[in-house]
Amino acid sequence: MSKTVNGFSKLAKLEKIDWLISNFFNNDIKVKQVLMQYWNSDTVLQELHDDFIENTISNYYLPFGIAPNFIINGIDYTIPMAIEESSVVAAASLTAKFWSARGGFKAKVIATKKVGQVHFMYEGDKATLQNYFVNKKQALLQATETITQNMKKRGGGILDIELRDKTAELKNYYQLHVTFETVDSMGANFINSCLESMANEFQNNSIQIVMSILSNYVPECLVQAEVSCKVSELGVENSELFAQKFVQAVQIANAETYRAVTHNKGIMNGIDAVVIATGNDFRAIEAGAHAYASKSGRYKSLTNATIENGIFKFWIEIPLALGTVGGLTKLHPLSKLSLKMLGNPSAKELMKIIAVAGLAQNFAALRALTTSGIQKGHMKMHLTNIIKQLGANEEDKQYLIDYFEHKTITHNAVVEAYNKLVRENE
Ligand code: MEV
Repeated sequence: MSKTVNGFSKLAKLEKIDWLISNFFNNDIKVKQVLMQYWNSDTVLQELHDDFIENTISNYYLPFGIAPNFIINGIDYTIPMAIEESSVVAAASLTAKFWSARGGFKAKVIATKKVGQVHFMYEGDKATLQNYFVNKKQALLQATETITQNMKKRGGGILDIELRDKTAELKNYYQLHVTFETVDSMGANFINSCLESMANEFQNNSIQIVMSILSNYVPECLVQAEVSCKVSELGVENSELFAQKFVQAVQIANAETYRAVTHNKGIMNGIDAVVIATGNDFRAIEAGAHAYASKSGRYKSLTNATIENGIFKFWIEIPLALGTVGGLTKLHPLSKLSLKMLGNPSAKELMKIIAVAGLAQNFAALRALTTSGIQKGHMKMHLTNIIKQLGANEEDKQYLIDYFEHKTITHNAVVEAYNKLVRENE
């Protein structure tokens, strides 16, 4: 049976749900209840969320946690994180505390340039195109004046327009490669509007515009964050060996793509959680970060570590195109609150905070991986989740935690131990 539907977007929310459950859930009323139990009783708040996207039928919750004790360039931050994966917030908090006792994190923004391109096809003479571009450049800027007016007042605007010959990569393909400063906004709408106006102004009978769009590859919208301390202050028994293995772990990520992807995934655990909490676009950040990790022609670690003259240094360099105004940032009550928690940062400050969240996460992962292994912490969490599911009381819970301290944790083993305990208590 075809499930094609016409005019679906025009249906009311409840009608959409009815259509869904009749077509996919055999009219199961429980499905409707699940969807509706996530509706907010505050209708204004619910309508706000309904309007973020199209065809909204419910809300999809993510836990919203906070990681205190981050010191970045001498300033104290509590970092908001929206993420579903256990251990990430705990790892961030532990790492923040660890480094706060060792001078904290240092971070700096290297550059804030964004990029957009008008992609077009041209079959004619190259010198003619070059002349046409040079003569048109001023008109291209003028064509965007109404759009750039406000941005200019805030200190941003179009930085440059270049004509790029890409015919070696693709026959007849050229582009206008445009660079922008968008100050505290991520700038996607601004950039795309400017590009479309330029494309209109630029086209003629022999220039066929294919598309105009910003790029999420922003190698010149770059931030660095670092931590360092004496090897002897790393707070583990054999600090020399720890530091050495830590550096080797980073080197392995640089030498081996299979490892690099997981290594960087761990970094993105921290980055995405803050990007989402602050209402920024995590898909753009992900795409840009992974492209940057491949800039040498090989996919590598986004972090680096060295030991020099007895000093352990660990740092990250990552492109982050972020906004603290516009988009969802002030529209979503939790994004607004997150930004307030961070002291209403500028986009540059937020770049530093988010780079630090990524670095902290990678530090926690590599520390665990090169010492006790990652499973110890995970299995502890797994154990408490199983205990919770079993409905054990506080006393039984503590007994089970102690019992499994040096035993292998499996679902069956925990259930068995719990059942035995209950029998003994009867
Ligand atoms: C899990 O979400 C992230 C890690 O796999 C990262 C890593 O291996 O470095 C722990």
